[in-house]
Amino acid sequence: MAVLTLSPQSRPIWPPRLCQRGGSGNLLLTRPLKTRKFGSLEIFEEAKVLELNAQVRDVDTNTLQLSKGLLDKILSKTVIVVPCKDEDLAIIRGVISAVPASCLVLLVSNSKRGHDGQYKQELEIAKAFSSNGKRVLYIHQKDARAASAFQASGLPEVLNHAGGSIRNGKGEGMLLGIAVAAAFCPDQHYIGFVDADNLNPGSVTEYCAAFAAGFAMSAMSASPEAEHSMVRLKWASKPKERSNGRFEFVTEGRCSRIVNSWLNKLFAPGFTDTPFITTGNAGEHAMTMGLAVKLRMAAGYAIEPFHFVDMLARGHLVTPEGTQAHARLCPNTLPSLDKPVRVVQIRTLNPHYHRASDDEHIRRMWAAGLGSIYHGLAPYRSVAGSDECALLKLSRDMHDFAATHDGLDQSSGELPRPRVYPALENMDLQVFREVLGPSLGFGSVRSAGLETWSY
Ligand code: GDD
Ligand code: MG
Repeated sequence: MAVLTLSPQSRPIWPPRLCQRGGSGNLLLTRPLKTRKFGSLEIFEEAKVLELNAQVRDVDTNTLQLSKGLLDKILSKTVIVVPCKDEDLAIIRGVISAVPASCLVLLVSNSKRGHDGQYKQELEIAKAFSSNGKRVLYIHQKDARAASAFQASGLPEVLNHAGGSIRNGKGEGMLLGIAVAAAFCPDQHYIGFVDADNLNPGSVTEYCAAFAAGFAMSAMSASPEAEHSMVRLKWASKPKERSNGRFEFVTEGRCSRIVNSWLNKLFAPGFTDTPFITTGNAGEHAMTMGLAVKLRMAAGYAIEPFHFVDMLARGHLVTPEGTQAHARLCPNTLPSLDKPVRVVQIRTLNPHYHRASDDEHIRRMWAAGLGSIYHGLAPYRSVAGSDECALLKLSRDMHDFAATHDGLDQSSGELPRPRVYPALENMDLQVFREVLGPSLGFGSVRSAGLETWSY
């Protein structure tokens, strides 16, 4: 039984050639044909990167060809946020160096500060890039002015307590990154996220190109102003060193395997052979700034799976009062998303090498992801109706799975309930800019050449 009302489609969406003859450096991808639509949310089947640096040529109708010029144009409007917590300095340097020069980089660090911390060395790296012409901004998650800026501009939820500092967590770092980008970089239309522990810099270059490809694909069928877009990446494989010294190239991570399987039960229960959702935990993802400030974000590592929950709720289950049958489910406080949302999933050519995590970290991460789905959809499963009954069953099954795999919260006996932050659009960005400006300006805006920008 389908969990939600679907209008799955199979139609050609994009023209095969989006570039001029004679060029090179183009990106070739498979053309996604199947989409699943839930009200104003449309999710596309995974597109695969076929060639990274192709000569322009005739391609068949199942292949998309995107010009380097088009991708560069999009990247020049993109902020790449690099969340970082005490990663190896050489790796951080590699990541920043691999972000295309046309992007603006924003390092959001929660690394240790003080005389024995490495943050000051991260600053030196960022400044060195800036002095060589690369636009690199940086901010520390525990920056006192950043906390004051959130407090003063109307988002105190992100602080430990009134007057305290910004909470720890990757999600919180990303939230700070979005707020800084929205407040100080109004000319940037897109925001992407790339982990600082990417051991292979070449992957990062491809991730950024794939973000741009996803936006280009989205913009082909509707103007960028008419819709929100999100691009989520699935890497080709993750190399795991085994005890015999050999590498195994696994195609799905330990956490993704679990979270994707439940998202598929929710969004695409009929797709048993080829899973439709492959990017539930896409650490590397990007979106239009308009969407980034509208979505509610979950704390820590629940942030990526929760995107799907908020987009589903506010694109399908929550509708403006009285316009659809589902309006009765609308919790008063949640506005529906104002434009259609397209989610493009892209599988890269490069493998993803990163710092290895232990089993306990993985367990906490999938439990947080499932918890964000379980609790995020809770308001919609208590009303009679076929969708809601199916949601209830899904939730029960998810709970049972977590119970047998040590995923329940010890104290509540439930899946962990994520902290969910209000959308950033509720903040007063002008106030945020005024409070944070002096701190950001001294350390990094000037070194990134931002004082000449209009903000
Ligand atoms: N600013 C900031 N603040 N960054 C942080 C924090 C924090 O409190 N905690 C972690 N980070 C940074 C790390 O330094 C790293 O660059 C990135 O966030 C991801 O953290 P990892 O600890 O490496 O996460 P992971 O590899 O287990 O999981 C990644 O992949 C998952 C999908 O497999 C993350 O990107 C997950 O969000 C993703 O779901
Ligand atoms: Mg990692």
